[in-house]
Amino acid sequence: MNNNLNEIVDPLLNWFQKEKRDLPWRHTNDSYKIWISEIMLQQTRVETVITYYKRFTKALPNLKSLSEVEEDQLLKLWEGLGYYSRAKNLKKCAKIIIMNNKTELPRDYDSLLKLPGIGPYAAGSIGSIAYGLKTPAIDGNVLRVMTRLHEDDRDILNIKVRQDYYKKIQQIMPEDTRNFTESLMELGALICLPKGSPLCERCPVSFFCQSYHHQTMLNYPIKKKEIKRRIEEKTIIILQYQDYYAIQKRKANGLLASMYEFCNISYKLNEEELKKWLKKQKIIFQKVKDLGTTKHIFSHLEWQMNGFWVECRMKPEIDFFWVKKEELKTKYSIPNAYIKYLNKVID
Ligand code: ADE
Repeated sequence: MNNNLNEIVDPLLNWFQKEKRDLPWRHTNDSYKIWISEIMLQQTRVETVITYYKRFTKALPNLKSLSEVEEDQLLKLWEGLGYYSRAKNLKKCAKIIIMNNKTELPRDYDSLLKLPGIGPYAAGSIGSIAYGLKTPAIDGNVLRVMTRLHEDDRDILNIKVRQDYYKKIQQIMPEDTRNFTESLMELGALICLPKGSPLCERCPVSFFCQSYHHQTMLNYPIKKKEIKRRIEEKTIIILQYQDYYAIQKRKANGLLASMYEFCNISYKLNEEELKKWLKKQKIIFQKVKDLGTTKHIFSHLEWQMNGFWVECRMKPEIDFFWVKKEELKTKYSIPNAYIKYLNKVID
């Protein structure tokens, strides 16, 4: 087998030219928009990002508008994407850049890395896609492609493996850094698929692939460390009084900071226990509906939830504020974890 990685460059670029998906961020050279797209793409599937990206860049078309956006509007634009600290970091970056009298993101890797929320992946992708820098972007797709090409048994969660591929890819990076970076990601997304069978018969670099040669593709990549998630139990209570729903703002730091949530308790109650709890809080209800159980997975935490919809007979004297359905939809950013229940209550 060949091990001159350089040989994959031209076949990949040619394949990408023919097969690439038409995605909105591929029509711009604006580093601001490319940055927004890459931060969104770090956590979410391409199909989902398309709508968010268009809406976000329409509402906030440049660094200045992002630096001045109200937090509630920012979170609303991000609602549903998860990892809300990323949205807040976008604004922080924009403010830093504007405060330094600059009009665009820095044009070098190390300065990009210093900005909040920009790690090696984002710095690499902004550098190579927007600025023509030879700064590879190593994400899960690229690691899967690389470890399969090399039948690499190392643990991809080990930072050294990423750094090693950063250097290897940097060495073969052509002048057309943008298309090369995107072609590697695209190969991972369209051909070198994660689960099920990769589509090796259509792969432009199968001639170079050790794992294809030995038919061991499905053994790669190897991930040794397992993420252990802490489990938290919760009861979510959607309190309704006439046309109004009770919400409160979460604290300004930590998980889902500054978003809005329904009344909730940090353990699981069944319907009987909930009714007792409501009485104790002096919440006079006329109807309780069990909304069932669901779970929501964060990076290091899992919420296991029971949900209830409680129609109140009198307006409870509790420390919440009351908002209408339309406002819940358009004004307040409600975390995904709660949206599952909210959708069962409002249409
Ligand atoms: N995933 C991460 N970055 C991407 C990009 N620029 N295009 C398509 N998928 C991606």
